[in-house]
Amino acid sequence: MKCAVFASGGGTNFQSLLDKKISGDLHVSFVLVVSNNSRAGALERARKHGIPTLHISPSHFELEADYTKRLATALREHEVDLIILAGYMKMIPAAIVREYRNRIINIHPALLPAFGGKGLYGSRVHCAVLEYGAKVTGVTVHFVDEHYDHGPVILQRTTEVRDGDNPETLAARVLALEHDSYWRAIEAVANGAVTVEGRRVYGIAK
Ligand code: GAR
Repeated sequence: MKCAVFASGGGTNFQSLLDKKISGDLHVSFVLVVSNNSRAGALERARKHGIPTLHISPSHFELEADYTKRLATALREHEVDLIILAGYMKMIPAAIVREYRNRIINIHPALLPAFGGKGLYGSRVHCAVLEYGAKVTGVTVHFVDEHYDHGPVILQRTTEVRDGDNPETLAARVLALEHDSYWRAIEAVANGAVTVEGRRVYGIAK
């Protein structure tokens, strides 16, 4: 399966996927890395591996339709089958969500539907979990629909919130869980094991 990875930040999730591909656990090819941030670590990691990159942001365009068109063209040019959001902080245009229904996957650093939605991303999520006093948090991998952090859930795994945790320690524990989870979900989707009926996703190993 030909995958495009979208990432805005450090790109450690993308790196963990590259590592799993190199170790022979993940059977996909990475054909394009897209970022809205020219300084994203993911772009650098992609260049190191000879993977084509695209720096594109809605702010580069006067009309959103032109942005969507450029993005859709790039995805078609690279014959992308599956879009992987790995720390991507922009909304995917609705037209692309429709074209890639159940073929766009996101990872969120909490147990959705808690601590998700617009404005809740990255370290903000962990601050919100701690402020609320939740005792468990974790990772959600889900298909992307037209709403923030909302599509059908593919996989969820939990980790405890410890008494001494601060946003950084919690983020580190969740990130390690993300790195051990995302490739499993992608592998299952890529090898056709996963089916979707409404909001229910079947065929993924626990
Ligand atoms: C990860 O924790 C990911 O779950 C989160 O951003 C971080 C990116 O880290 N994504 C979101 O919050 C999306 N709602 P990375 O750049 O090191 O992979």
